[in-house]
Amino acid sequence: MEKLLVTSALPYANGPLHIGHIAGAYLPADIYVRYKRLKGDDVVYICGTDEHGVAITIAAEKQGITPKELVDYYYKDIKNSFDKLGISFDNFSRTTKPVHYKTSQDFFLRIYEKGYIYKKDIEQFYCPKCKRFLPDRYVVGTCPYCGYPHARGDQCEKCGRWLEPTELIDPKCAICGTTPVIKKTYHYYFKLSAFAEPLRKWLESKDWKENVKNTALGWIKEGLKDRAITRDLEWGVPVPLPEAKGKVLYVWFDAPIGYISSTKEWAEKIGQPNKWKDYWLDPKTRLIHFIGKDNIVFHAIVWPAMLMAHGDFVLPDNVPANEFMNLMGDKISTSRGWAIWIPEFVDAFGPDYVRFGLAFSLPEYKDSDFNFYEFQQRVNSELADNFGNFVNRTLSFIKNYLGGRIPEAKNFKDMDLEVIKAIEEAPGKVGALLEKFEMRKALREVLDLSNLANRYFDYKKPWVTRKTDAEETARTLYLCASLVKTLSVLAEPFIPFGAQKIRQMLNIKDRLTWEDAGKLDLPAGLELGEIEILYRKISDEKIEAEVNKLKSRLKKPEPQKEEKEVEEKKISYDEFAKLDIRIGKILEAEKVEGADRLLKLKVDLGDKVITLVAGIAKFYSPEDVVGKELPVLANLEPRKIRGILSQGMILAAVDKDGNVVLLHPDKEVPPGTKVS
Ligand code: MF3
Ligand code: ZN
Repeated sequence: MEKLLVTSALPYANGPLHIGHIAGAYLPADIYVRYKRLKGDDVVYICGTDEHGVAITIAAEKQGITPKELVDYYYKDIKNSFDKLGISFDNFSRTTKPVHYKTSQDFFLRIYEKGYIYKKDIEQFYCPKCKRFLPDRYVVGTCPYCGYPHARGDQCEKCGRWLEPTELIDPKCAICGTTPVIKKTYHYYFKLSAFAEPLRKWLESKDWKENVKNTALGWIKEGLKDRAITRDLEWGVPVPLPEAKGKVLYVWFDAPIGYISSTKEWAEKIGQPNKWKDYWLDPKTRLIHFIGKDNIVFHAIVWPAMLMAHGDFVLPDNVPANEFMNLMGDKISTSRGWAIWIPEFVDAFGPDYVRFGLAFSLPEYKDSDFNFYEFQQRVNSELADNFGNFVNRTLSFIKNYLGGRIPEAKNFKDMDLEVIKAIEEAPGKVGALLEKFEMRKALREVLDLSNLANRYFDYKKPWVTRKTDAEETARTLYLCASLVKTLSVLAEPFIPFGAQKIRQMLNIKDRLTWEDAGKLDLPAGLELGEIEILYRKISDEKIEAEVNKLKSRLKKPEPQKEEKEVEEKKISYDEFAKLDIRIGKILEAEKVEGADRLLKLKVDLGDKVITLVAGIAKFYSPEDVVGKELPVLANLEPRKIRGILSQGMILAAVDKDGNVVLLHPDKEVPPGTKVS
């Protein structure tokens, strides 16, 4: 028996859950956990809301309420979504609970005492207009690594790297758009650099999904920097040092500790307050963190390093990270209203339909797309016509023609034997895939068994044999009923509500295990319960209504605050005249190593040749641009980008998603020609 502690990323309590969240870190974990419970393993499944950090304070500020009011509301809202969908956490906590404050402060102190946290005087961004320090997401700007123009001060959404606000190119206050100034303060730093080597060794020993392992190892290769783990905010876990007045822990320091505090709360609730230690302190525990890909750096690097620094607790055994799910070909976006919200979706179709639809399209290896028409088609052909239909045709046949009791069967032959073999092998096959976090393939395997079951029913034609061969009919229906039982167990991780209903229709009162699914042990004579249609098809009208609902919610993008400021602000001709814009000719171009958006360009400006770094590598290869002419801002203050001194800026068309299109003069002109 394995001992498992499974977690799903703690969702920020700053907004409702949509399908992308569920497909990333929650449904896969729930499928896995339900499977492991059926296997009889010792599993505790932990989660809770992440209620600190600027993701919360910014959202609260925008709505004009306090952070506390915001998180109280969304804790309930998020919990309700999980309940509706049957996500089976053993405990769902909140990082604002006292147990969490205590646990994270103790954690901090332990690492501090061991010398892995130190105080450092630093310069930090301060917004002169808002009159306050600007931690993390309060600053936005261009990512210095990949050139993404909308990077946040704590992390670049595009390349996933962990950032310091002061690393951003062209930083702006996220609230008012003002360029921040630098002020002196101090913060506590975590010695992440000390763990580069242990982390590398540890990661290399892991048989993880490529995306997680390689990304993490790549970052270690680039070099790990010590990072500030405290912030100047009023909202958060206070730094437990008397001299650190006004400082709180950085949210990504306290949140993962929430996995521990939520386990403690669980132990408390079941009346065995020390039970959490059985998991966190036992090296045999397999700690598994389900996350979305934007959380990789924290779960594969920062958190393991924190655990290493602390020393008492187990390290993650695996970090299965999913990619992102898009919606009808477009990126899910809360602010644009382009999302399917969980409570509505579940109310419209029922939890199994939603789970099934999402499980079918989980973004396991690459970004996936959720499409309503595909959803309808899959539900109709697989859930209703294949799976549900087999269950219903079998059980109604027994009800209608065999007195409603499981018949007695003997003398199995030919296809019967094939079916028996399939039943015996199925739990192993599906289980092996689930062990590897291959949820989609596992679901396919279950549906294939149900396909085989339907073929068996058709081939045996019990509606004919019932008039001619009672023994043959009994054999057929016995095996069909066995298949129904097997399917009900194997499908349970995916569609637990229907699985339960099947068990009621079969009148099986005992809890079945995964192993039971492979047994031919239905007792002859067992009387069936009430039969009802398991899954119905989704009509075209219903899908159309959902698509319309989605489209009608789509908002025109709100102009970002900074853009508005720019629109309103007029500049004088003199100010404009200060810009030295000229046509440059690209002489050389090469990729910047380790920065997949950046090209290093040598540009002829007539009287001089300059070097500059441009975030265009995603759209143009070096060969595309050599020899091309384009406008260049020639008197921009030089700045270092990835070690290269960039002495100017190309001017190009950039759309709201950051896609770049270069501009070229209508006719060739001599390099250096002025643009005015
Ligand atoms: N709240 C974070 C997010 O939604 C995830 C936190 S996971 C934890 O991206 F490990 F910090 F708990
Ligand atoms: Zn980046």
